[in-house]
Amino acid sequence: MIPFNKPYFSGRELKYIEDVCHSTTMSGNGQFTKKCHNFFEDKYGYKKCLLATSGTDALEMCAMLCDLKYGDEVIIPSYTFVSTPLAFLRENAKVVFADSSAENPNMDVEQIEPLITNKTKVIAVVHYAGIACNMDPIMALAEKYNLIVVEDAAHSIDSFYKAKPLGGIGHLSAFSFHETKNINSGEGGMCVINDERFIRRSEIIWEKGTNRAEFYRGMVNKYGWCDMGSSFLPSEFNAAYLWAQLEQLDNIQNKRKYIWQKYFDGLNGNICEKIRLPFIPEYATNNAHMFYLLCPTLEYRTALMLFMKDNGVQTTFHYLPLHSSDFYCDKYNGKELPHCNYYADCLVRLPLFHELKDEEIDKIIELIIDFCKKE
Ligand SMILES: Cc1ncc(COP(=O)(O)O)c(C=O)c1O
Repeated sequence: MIPFNKPYFSGRELKYIEDVCHSTTMSGNGQFTKKCHNFFEDKYGYKKCLLATSGTDALEMCAMLCDLKYGDEVIIPSYTFVSTPLAFLRENAKVVFADSSAENPNMDVEQIEPLITNKTKVIAVVHYAGIACNMDPIMALAEKYNLIVVEDAAHSIDSFYKAKPLGGIGHLSAFSFHETKNINSGEGGMCVINDERFIRRSEIIWEKGTNRAEFYRGMVNKYGWCDMGSSFLPSEFNAAYLWAQLEQLDNIQNKRKYIWQKYFDGLNGNICEKIRLPFIPEYATNNAHMFYLLCPTLEYRTALMLFMKDNGVQTTFHYLPLHSSDFYCDKYNGKELPHCNYYADCLVRLPLFHELKDEEIDKIIELIIDFCKKE
């Protein structure tokens, strides 16, 4: 069976983890954490980076920094992972779900302004598959209505919007280094703070509500409890693992982009027109996080996935609509979100990982072409 995913492993992870075993700092915010922070701050110009134990935790840090009051509203796409709305629900916010656009699963920018009320405080965008949302109009809305923009950049390492790195455009952002992502540390994430006004508090929230980071820098002579917070910082073991991956970022990205393009070139024009290929707007780059197909119906997708499985290829669908989920449906206002439902029913993801071989990619392409001929 060709699996859907196989997490990248360079081999250096073991060496760096061993270094941590022989060091005096294992708990976190040690040399590997700092290397990772510096890497992101230097390479992408993010103002402040704080590793977190998951993308979910990074989103929770963002939501805490927004300082929401009961009933404040946050606009979020329904086609996303549960962690995006959960982070804000935990802060007692009201989640207002928006539909995806027709051209790709990102939030439909046209729909945002009509959803803004005098209670709206945040727009949380998700750059699906690492393809940028149209950020200029979103940032203009934020400016007009004095809103905070949080980028859920879980998929978006090394991807850009008009030459600006994703995760560096909104006021706050969250990355994931879960094993399914281009760069992984098993579980892992990072909170990025681009707006100065959040920086001091972000370090306090990160360090269990204390000003320990300032103490370590010698800025205060003792540290204490100053705010809300949690244990968001990962141990040095996670950071060491992540560092070994970051050293290979260009290598990983080049290989993923090669695989993505091979899929695109092999399928484009060779499969039935009712299957759509990913659409990348001219303002966005492609970080090859994901290669997906859009089937015409749920039945068609189910048949395709079964055909691929019977022929030794694991494919997967993605998010289920959150507005109609068991947890949220009775809290939802009932507005139809047809594009979200369409992506939930029709999107199927193909295997994409560093070790995927040319002959495996060719086999997958051939199978899809064969399936189309039969349908
Ligand atoms: C869009 C999005 N946001 C957040 C997350 C949560 O990240 P993590 O699994 O690292 O907690 C995911 C997970 O895949 C995701 O797809």
